[in-house]
Order: sequence, then C-alpha cells, then structure tokens
Amino acid sequence: MSDAVLVIGAQSEIGQSLIAKVIAEEKASQVIAVSRSDCPNSLASRVSDETRLTWMRCDYSDQEMADVVERCGVLLAEKNVTLNRLVICNGRLHDSTISPEKRIEDLDRDTLHAIFESNAVVPALWLKHLKVLLKTHLKGRIPAVIAVLSARIGSIEDNGKGGWYAYRASKSALNMLLKTSAIEYQRTLPELRFIAFHPGTTDTPLSKPFQRSVPEGKLFTPDFVAASLLARLSESLAVNTALASFVAWDGSQIPW
Ligand SMILES: NC(=O)c1ccc[n+]([C@@H]2O[C@H](COP(=O)([O-])OP(=O)(O)OC[C@H]3O[C@@H](n4cnc5c(N)ncnc54)[C@H](OP(=O)(O)O)[C@@H]3O)[C@@H](O)[C@H]2O)c1
Repeated sequence: MSDAVLVIGAQSEIGQSLIAKVIAEEKASQVIAVSRSDCPNSLASRVSDETRLTWMRCDYSDQEMADVVERCGVLLAEKNVTLNRLVICNGRLHDSTISPEKRIEDLDRDTLHAIFESNAVVPALWLKHLKVLLKTHLKGRIPAVIAVLSARIGSIEDNGKGGWYAYRASKSALNMLLKTSAIEYQRTLPELRFIAFHPGTTDTPLSKPFQRSVPEGKLFTPDFVAASLLARLSESLAVNTALASFVAWDGSQIPW
C-alpha cells in the first residue's frame, strides 16, 4: 500500500512547497490538499504528476469540513493508499486591517477573535472532524502523524519579549488543543503522533512585513522548511517518539 499526505490550508507557501516536494520525490505518494481557494497556478506548474494531487475547496464551516473528511475517506479507499501524514498549515498574523500588537493598549476584541479563529479554532475543528476518518482508516494499528504549523512565539516558557498578543496566544492555544486531543486520540489510535511544528522565520506573505529584523541566514525558504518538516514527520513515523511534541525545523525541542 502507498502513502497519502493530507495538507490543510494548502494555499500556505510552506504547504505548497510540501505538496510539490512530496509529488516530486515520492513517486507513489498521493497528496490531498484542502484550502479556501483553488490550487494556485504557481503550484500547478510545479506539479509534474497531477494525477497524484487532489485539491478540495473548503470554507472551513463544520458542514464543509465533514464533507471533505468524507470525500477523503472515499478517495483513500479508491486509491488504496494509507493516510499517514497530516499537516494543518492555517495561520494568520496580519492583513490589511490587522497587525500584531506592540502594547496592551493595542488589544482589540475583533482582532483577537479573528486571529484565534484562524490559528486555533479552525485547526482544532479539523482535529475533531478527522477523528472519525482516522479511527476507521488507521484501525488503531498503523503509525501516522499529525502536524500543526505552530510557532516558537506560542511557547509560554520561552516568552521573554512580550508583544504580538493575539498571534502568540493563539499559537499557545493551538498547542494546548493539539496536546489535549493527542491524549484523547491515544485511547483509540495509540500509533498516532502529534507535532506542533515551528518552521523558523520563513520567506512567505505571513512574515513579509517583519523580515528586516531577521539576522542573516535565518530567513528560510519555504522549500527548505518543507524538507525540514518532512524530515520531522519521517522521524515521528520511524522511531518511538513522544505522543505530542513541540519541535523546531531543526528537530530541537521547544518548551511548551
Ligand atoms: N512564515 C513564517 O515565518 C512562519 C513562522 C512561524 C510559524 N508560521 C506558521 O506557518 C503556517 C504557514 O504559514 P505561511 O508562512 O506558509 O503563511 P501563508 O503563505 O501566509 O499561509 C497562510 C495560511 O493560513 C491560512 N489562512 C489565512 N487566513 C485564514 C483564515 N481567515 N481562516 C483560516 N485559514 C486562514 C491559509 O489557508 P488557505 O489555504 O485556506 O488559504 C494558509 O494555510 C502558519 O500557521 C504560520 O503561523 C510561519
């Protein structure tokens, strides 16, 4: 049986690099991509074998998440592949109306709700909806790993600088939601592992306005980060790793 990778929030530049890499380097693997938008032309042109990429649109409502999960189940059965790597990329830091807070006086109710929604609520609801699929598909025996794209800034212990309240706290919440669901999932799927992954500062739209202060050599390309993430996923499948870990691009552990 061949492998399948599920990439949620696939419009993410890191997610796109991951998809392109899996299609290019793993000749038998299938990729299922889920996003609010269509597959971008920039990715379509990088994908040499489009028969191995299935792109699903989803507005992240509960109804559409459940529909996507059902379609995934049908597709995995049709293709006779094992879904053993799942990556949830969703994350938002700024847009035309939102920027990270410098001071507590900048806190804004709507911004807090919006950032928590995309960074913690949406990934958590995916963990909820995927349970039914993973229970029937993995049957408790097959090793698999779920990674969420977190950020070191979400580490409560590591917070020495302050600022960026909404983004920072939404990633802390994401980590807690992941760890809590890992404990519950373990009862029925003991071979499933959970990773909160810190990609490092990566050259994507998310980090664009903040790249000037990044030390030389510390701004990574999405391709480099995708390779690091794939290495972390492989490690998790190959060796007996902790149920849930908060891990950086280079494999170093981050305190929760
Ligand atoms: N770039 C960095 O330096 C850096 C550093 C640390 C952590 N991260 C984390 O890495 C992940 C990927 O980021 P990236 O750098 O690849 O950023 P990106 O290219 O800007 O991707 C944005 C991601 O967020 C999702 N998204 C945006 N607005 C959303 C909304 N309103 N509701 C739900 N989802 C929404 C997109 O999903 P769709 O496919 O549905 O559009 C996409 O997955 C994020 O979780 C980010 O926090 C990035």
